[in-house]
Amino acid sequence: MNSDLLVVSASQLITAPPGQGPLLGPDLDRPVVIEDAAVACVGGKVVAVGTTSEVAAGYPEREAGRVVDARGLVLAPGFVDAHTHLPFAGTREMEFDARARGETYAAIAARGGGIRSSVRQLRAVSEETLADRIVERLRRLLAQGTTTVEAKSGYGLSLEEERKQLRALKRAAAASPLTIVPTFLGAHEVPDEHRDRREDYVSLLTESMIPEIAKEGLARFCDVFCDEGVFTVEEARRILLRGRECGLKIKLHADELADVGAASLAAELRAVSADHLLHASPEGLRAMAAAGVVAVLLPGTAFTLGLPYARARVMVEMGLAVALATDFNPGSNMSSSMPMAMTLAVTQMKLTPAEAWMAATVNAACALGEGSRLGRIQAGYDADLTLFDASDHRHIPYHYAEEHVRMVIKKAVPVMDRAETCESA
Ligand code: NIG
Ligand code: FE
Repeated sequence: MNSDLLVVSASQLITAPPGQGPLLGPDLDRPVVIEDAAVACVGGKVVAVGTTSEVAAGYPEREAGRVVDARGLVLAPGFVDAHTHLPFAGTREMEFDARARGETYAAIAARGGGIRSSVRQLRAVSEETLADRIVERLRRLLAQGTTTVEAKSGYGLSLEEERKQLRALKRAAAASPLTIVPTFLGAHEVPDEHRDRREDYVSLLTESMIPEIAKEGLARFCDVFCDEGVFTVEEARRILLRGRECGLKIKLHADELADVGAASLAAELRAVSADHLLHASPEGLRAMAAAGVVAVLLPGTAFTLGLPYARARVMVEMGLAVALATDFNPGSNMSSSMPMAMTLAVTQMKLTPAEAWMAATVNAACALGEGSRLGRIQAGYDADLTLFDASDHRHIPYHYAEEHVRMVIKKAVPVMDRAETCESA
């Protein structure tokens, strides 16, 4: 049969066993690994996966629009980065310096730095300028093997400015091959102009910002930073229920700085995901497992801020769906590298390399409600593939802080090819 794209002779292919949902418990450590592997793609989708001879029996090379020889390479699903604050205007290395001198993230935020300093930066740039900066970051994400990225607003904190941030994201998305999943995070912080009347800001969110953003189709998810010193569980419930009423799906920044009961709220609301969870209580985590809420862990943030890591092993053993993401943002993790997130997950949170791979692809797609379309190399799934210069998948998290991505394929089209880049250079 004809195929648009045929990838053949990969040293190793890693994906999940056939199925759709997240991988739980011991299954997280049981990926399918195929040696001398091939994938055939038609119409942007995967149609066959197996050994090169198995796939070639149905989809011969002579009937392929394009053949990629993957000898000596690992073939994996493109990374799904399920939690980023990508549409920011500027960086905050001053705070990085201040933390090195002993100031805490919370102390910096309390003196007007932190999220509020990113808000000032964002309000000072135009939508066009912001879009240009996002496009450049998307290019870097792709070069690191990420093919789908969730991206949050939350540095505008007014209807106009949040809308500007999400419109800039949409404009950038149109110029990039990545799949972008936009999230409205107007409840990231209380803006300076509402500091003394926080209830007014919650009302502004529920009465005007959420309905307007949803009406314009600028976001798929509604998120709240539910934590000590930010939004309370009661406020978060009100905001998220309004988001749901307006057609948005729900996710939360939960119990990052302290246990405020945000994990339990995520379970109560049957959120798609609850993220961070450094201080989540065992009861909260158990409730999340029972409600099928994906736990998105962000080891880069604990690494950057010098915080204790989320208890990933306990979560896997509880039967929670554990996913990995970067949390790419200018304050608490200035890295968009999913391979680095996997390395930290293995070395600091004691996931196995196989678990880290599944958490960064299969379960990450589930954290975006896309588990039946993205995150696996499986017939019927989007043909989002990454090829790495390595012959064993474990090499990628092991040989960290190095560039291993050789080629990235999005919907069956090669969109980044390092060999070509090198030849033409
Ligand atoms: O996920 N936790 C809340 N928000 C971000 C930090 C954002 C910032 O500092 O700009 C996070 O870590
Ligand atoms: Fe975050």
